[in-house]
Amino acid sequence: MCSPDRFRVEYVINPWMSEGLGHTDSQRARLQWSALHAILVNQTDSRVTVVDSREGLPDMVFSANAGLVYDGRFIPSRFRYPERTGEERHFTEWAKGLGYEVRPLPAAITFEGAGDALFDRKRPVLWLGHGFRTSPSAEAFLSDQVQPGGWQVVSLELTDPRYYHLDTCFCPLDGGLVMWFPAAFSAESQNIVRSVLPESSRIEVGEEDAAHFACNAVSVNGTIVMNRASQNLRARLSNNGFRVIETPLDEFIRAGGSSKCLTLRLDEPVTNAFV
Ligand code: ARG
Repeated sequence: MCSPDRFRVEYVINPWMSEGLGHTDSQRARLQWSALHAILVNQTDSRVTVVDSREGLPDMVFSANAGLVYDGRFIPSRFRYPERTGEERHFTEWAKGLGYEVRPLPAAITFEGAGDALFDRKRPVLWLGHGFRTSPSAEAFLSDQVQPGGWQVVSLELTDPRYYHLDTCFCPLDGGLVMWFPAAFSAESQNIVRSVLPESSRIEVGEEDAAHFACNAVSVNGTIVMNRASQNLRARLSNNGFRVIETPLDEFIRAGGSSKCLTLRLDEPVTNAFV
């Protein structure tokens, strides 16, 4: 995770930020972030490292966008908008410091890390989102990186500007289920998801849950940590064996992010069958 000290909505690069502009409460954001941190550490048995924030980079708190971790390697992001490109070198230095082998992207490709690239927890699939931030051409480079390890990249097109990163509308869960909001994808990509995942592996969320960032959840050790879930969604997740923990993150939703965006898994790819 990255410290929320400098988090604010100072510019608009996604639809959530136009309303959030100038409206964040720093103290409230810090409390919400600390509550998430405490849940991960105390209730999911996770170990969390915290990176310092940097001046002039108010979105750096969304560490999911630092890059993609894969088997001891780190592929640093190249951001679509100049407002965030300053983060790239800090996250790269940080990954080097932790001993990751850094694999830079080829020129001219944009890629926003674990915001747009999510490992399935059961199938050998790396789900990749494009349409708003990540270039479609990132697919070929990522395939070269993960295919030797047996992973196949499946590329999905995002079409609703409110769900501009894959992790805002698609969430691989422990054990191989996927929680998603189909309307955020092109018809063709919806079909791809349905052809790769049997119905029993798909948990579809409706408009209301999607808008509360239900799909932007952290699924770790059998627990799902999220901003908010409807009673119906909570019941479906519990019936599938998950413990659901809700923790308010509305200050961060003003910038277009929630629990998943505020974290980056360092032990990817994770494959498991906890539930
Ligand atoms: N304001 C940030 C942006 O638009 C939010 C990033 C949220 N991160 C994520 N992985 N969805 O870039």
